[in-house]
This record gives sequence, C-alpha cells and structure tokens, in this order.
Amino acid sequence: MKILGTGSALPDHIVTNDDLSKIVETSDEWITSRTGIRQRRISGGETVSELASKAALAALEQAKVSAEELDLIMVATITPDGIMPNMACMVQDRIGAVNATCFDINAACSGFLFALNTANAYLTSGMYQKILLIGAETLSKLVNWEDRTTCVLFGDGAGAAVVAADEQRYVAVSGSDGAKGQVLTAAQLPLRNFTTEQGDIVTPEQFYMYMNGQEVFKFAVRTVPDSILKIVEKAQVTVDEIDWFLLHQANERIIASVAKRLDIPMEKMPMNMDRYGNTSAASIPLLLDEVLRKGMIKPGNKVILSGFGGGLTWGTVYMEF
Ligand code: COA
Repeated sequence: MKILGTGSALPDHIVTNDDLSKIVETSDEWITSRTGIRQRRISGGETVSELASKAALAALEQAKVSAEELDLIMVATITPDGIMPNMACMVQDRIGAVNATCFDINAACSGFLFALNTANAYLTSGMYQKILLIGAETLSKLVNWEDRTTCVLFGDGAGAAVVAADEQRYVAVSGSDGAKGQVLTAAQLPLRNFTTEQGDIVTPEQFYMYMNGQEVFKFAVRTVPDSILKIVEKAQVTVDEIDWFLLHQANERIIASVAKRLDIPMEKMPMNMDRYGNTSAASIPLLLDEVLRKGMIKPGNKVILSGFGGGLTWGTVYMEF
C-alpha cells in the first residue's frame, strides 16, 4: 500500500492551559508536566463532517486524485455529527465523491489505524483501488467542561490520507480487550422505549467522557511497546532500523515511557500534542500529515504507527515509504 497524499483540518479557536485554568481548578504547570499538552483546538462551530471534508480535499489535492476517482471513503470517529447518515456519506456529498462506498469506523483512538488496515485488506483483495480514509473528531462536545481530570486532555481536528495499492510493504498487528471497556466510556445510549421505565433524557454521567486515567496509562505503556516488538518481529526488522515512530498523541509521558522501554531516541518520536492535545482518531493522521509535509519522512524510510484507546483497542502498523 502507498500513501498518495495527506491533509489536515483544525478548528481556528485555540484554547490554552491558562484559558482552562479560568474554568476548572488546574494550572499550565500541572497539565504540561503530566501530559505535555499546552494548548488544543476547540470547535467554535466546525462540525466533524466539515473538518473531515476539509482534510480530505487537502489530501486529494496532494495525491493528485479527483473525488470522482475514489471508490471507498472511511471516516474513523467517535464523535459523529449524528449516527445517521454516517460521516463518510456526508464527506462524499461535500466533496462530490459520487462513485465511493462510504462507512464509518468506531474504534476511538485506534480508529485511523483500523481504517488503514481495512484499506490495505481491500486493496490487497482488489475490491477497491483508490481509498480515502479520515480520522475526525469534535471531542469537545463529549467532554465535561467541569471535570478537570478529562477536560484538559482532548482537542478537535481531522486528518486524512488517500491510499492505493503498491509494492511498498505494509505489516499490521492489532487487538482489542472488551473486558476492560469500562475504563474509557462516552455517550451511552440507554434503552428507551415504552416498556422500560427509564426517563427519556440521557443523564450527564451517561453522556460525558469518563476515564480511569491510571488504568488507561498502564494499558498504554504495556500494550504499545509489546505491539511494537510484535510488529518488528513480523516485519523482520529491528527496532533500531525504524526511522520514525508515529504514536497516538495522548500523553508525552506515555511516549517517553515507550521510548525508554525500547531504547528508542526521542528524536525518532515526533509529537504535536503540545499544540493539539489528544484528538483521538484524528491524532495519527494529523501527525502523519505534519511530518510528511515537513519532508521528515524520506523515500525508503521505515515507519511505525501505533494507536491505542477506548474499547479498549490498539493497533500498530509498519510501513515502508
Ligand atoms: N489539574 C490539577 N490537578 C488535577 C487535574 C488537573 N487537570 N487532574 C487531576 N488532578 C489531580 C487529581 O484530582 C489528584 O488530586 P488528589 O491527589 O488531591 O486526589 C491528583 O491530580 C493526581 O491525580 P491522578 O489521576 O493520580 O494523576 P495522574 O498522575 O495519574 O495523571 C492523567 C492523570 C490523566 C494525566 C494520567 O493518568 C494519564 O495520562 N492517563 C492516560 C490518559 C490517556 O492517555 N487517555 C487517553 C487514552 S486514548
């Protein structure tokens, strides 16, 4: 599989840690030292379908592919504008990709990597030839802005990639642990019909993002290094041979811990969570677009992408550029 082009879109509105310290009891010092996040973009009205479409158009332009050439669009998101129609169909309509089949993928922060794996499987089978995949979120609508333990972590944005079949190597490992799903939850949809006694309004507890931060932290610092070791074995390369590690941008301390455990120089782990926070499914494609546009990834480079998050889910990919 080959990435033909990438693109990003971010809301205009920047919210700094100092801005947050005016609405909850927190400080720039606490947030920066525990997470590495300094600011995030928060939607001032931009929807997921708008951000996703903007990122898609930038990726198509770079790929020199027209919207009509696309035969599949996948949007990874946990914050769609609504459940139906899906976001991929809304993107299709906005960009005029009239020949595409469209569906969404819900796998939280691993969503973009699962979309990439799905694209690779379709390309390998020959079912589709030109695929647009997007990770797009407006997490700000699921965050409880009175809860300092979560509201400082997340941001909004979208990243996209256009891919096609090619000789370049692609190797993936992935997994899920539904038994631990309750450590990271949001937007429950309780059963509500005339035979049940539940009220017809979702409670704030059911709606807002809930996270057991320490459990998620432990899961990430165990799973990411394990899956990197698995992927290098499967791809028959060594950790040292990898030029870049593009990890989900949740927390600088998680990335530093992975680097330490596998003895990887931090310079091989680009980060942008200082500017965007954790954008869930958008995190990896936003970072990928940034490093590609800066020319950091050179032809022939060996790159590992790794994501983890709600579900629980995780995925790691090895690609040669
Ligand atoms: N500002 C100031 N204090 C805060 C705070 C904030 N934003 N958030 C929590 N605190 C307080 C807590 O209330 C607690 O106070 P107490 O000791 O008086 O009870 C103290 O800081 C320590 O809280 P704790 O939860 O133990 O902090 P931590 O060191 O575990 O860091 C996270 C919290 C969320 C940064 C950390 O657990 C983490 O990064 N987890 C992974 C989260 C993640 O990546 N999620 C997304 C995965 S896709």
